[in-house]
Amino acid sequence: MSLALSQFCYLISAVCSILALRGLSGPESAKTGLRLGIAGMVLAILTTLLMPGMHSFFLIVLGIAIGGAVGAGIALKIEMTALPQLVAAFHSLVGLAAVMIAGAAFGSPDSYHISEVINGATRIHPGSLVEMSLGVAIGAITFTGSIIAWGKLQGVITGKPVVFKGQHPINAGLGGLLLVLIILLVLTQSAFLFWLIVLIALSLGVLMIIPIGGADMPVIVSMLNSYSGWAAAGIGFTLQNPLLIIVGALVGASGAILSYIMCKGMNRSFFNVILGGFGGEVAAGAAAKSDKPVKIGSADDAAFILKNASSVIIVPGYGMAVAQAQHALREMADVLKKEGVKVRYAIHPVAGRMPGHMNVLLAEANVPYEDVLELEEINRDFAQTDVAFVIGANDITNPAAKKDPASPIYGMPILDVEAAGTVLFVKRSLGSGYAGIDNELFFYDNTMMLLGDAKQMCEGIIKALEH
Ligand code: TAP
Repeated sequence: MSLALSQFCYLISAVCSILALRGLSGPESAKTGLRLGIAGMVLAILTTLLMPGMHSFFLIVLGIAIGGAVGAGIALKIEMTALPQLVAAFHSLVGLAAVMIAGAAFGSPDSYHISEVINGATRIHPGSLVEMSLGVAIGAITFTGSIIAWGKLQGVITGKPVVFKGQHPINAGLGGLLLVLIILLVLTQSAFLFWLIVLIALSLGVLMIIPIGGADMPVIVSMLNSYSGWAAAGIGFTLQNPLLIIVGALVGASGAILSYIMCKGMNRSFFNVILGGFGGEVAAGAAAKSDKPVKIGSADDAAFILKNASSVIIVPGYGMAVAQAQHALREMADVLKKEGVKVRYAIHPVAGRMPGHMNVLLAEANVPYEDVLELEEINRDFAQTDVAFVIGANDITNPAAKKDPASPIYGMPILDVEAAGTVLFVKRSLGSGYAGIDNELFFYDNTMMLLGDAKQMCEGIIKALEH
């Protein structure tokens, strides 16, 4: 394949990647987006393999086959609730790849055509040294940071923020030192400085992520996703590979935008998330304390109320995902629709544990897209709705976000379920959600708690509705 043709193919796969991102922005176009992304990636791999000067063809294909088989095996087995840690684990590999490629290019610059011989000494171009050192630093931070994020989400290490005195000055000092070392490396091309940068960046990755608490981990995974993209883009410059630069920048920018959207959904500043420590002081799972009585109902009670309603808004949350209740929930909604009840779903931007978590699960259960509405589209309708059916959600409905300036979720937009005629709350206990705080809504006069597993409760309600 000629160089001109390979550049043209790279351009097509870059366009496919951009269109894939565009497609993934909506549930109806997501499948087309995914197919375009796969097509772009296949074209990119084939183009790279057919490029002039390609060696070790067998080893590359073997690597792709082994990596592809392992990746496919993991992806087929993984539970939806474990996706954040899987993404973190995969990002660590992108970071490691960036470090290894930069190490190879630094050790053998003439193979990468990034050097010239001056007075008998091989000098790497200063521009390449800048790209390489930025790529290796961001890659090393991504590598260890993602491993820590994976460990926290997987429960291998404590998910609570690990904080110690002087943490922020130490991190800021290490960040500053990295910049100084990068400048010195560009001036001296010293191998010692190169590996010192790697070492400091590896440590910084650990130190930056250990103070982040459980509730903020998805934001951090998205931030690490962004870092891995920038590391890839940096290495794309070293390898003079335009596709790697474009795709790296796309990943970098989309990860950064996603982090911003998540922070906005939780009413947190990105800086505040990075500083960490959030959620460490609260006892997750503590039961809500109140002297007020709680109204506890059964599946039969719920079926009676739902059957007699003319409009119902379902509010799904993390518990629905844990219980895998989406199919039973859709069946319940279908039975209600047959009875003439208007049923819609309200999605909070940070419901569940990752962006789009609820949309994916509801789509999997074949819930019609037009029934699924975002917070801004549906929040005002609660006041004219007979029943808000909250299933496995907690924080995203907590009025403390509006009323209590001392609450860690104060300022977060919430779904105004309490404005509905009756609020049915499906969860197993009066315990707290991710933010670890009580929800006074459980004690409101118009609330009925349906204590139990989300899936079993939906099945019980379906049975009662059909009798
Ligand atoms: P949460 O506030 O975490 O509440 C989930 C509730 O589900 C829990 O209170 C739990 O109560 C219940 N539950 C667990 N297993 C259940 C089961 N098998 N059956 C029935 N209920 C079950 O979830 P949410 O309302 O979706 O809010 C999301 C939280 O995650 C927010 O704090 C948000 O800031 C945070 N967060 C989200 C994201 C994204 S992008 N989605 C990112 C970062 C942080 P019981 O134990 O009593 O059953």
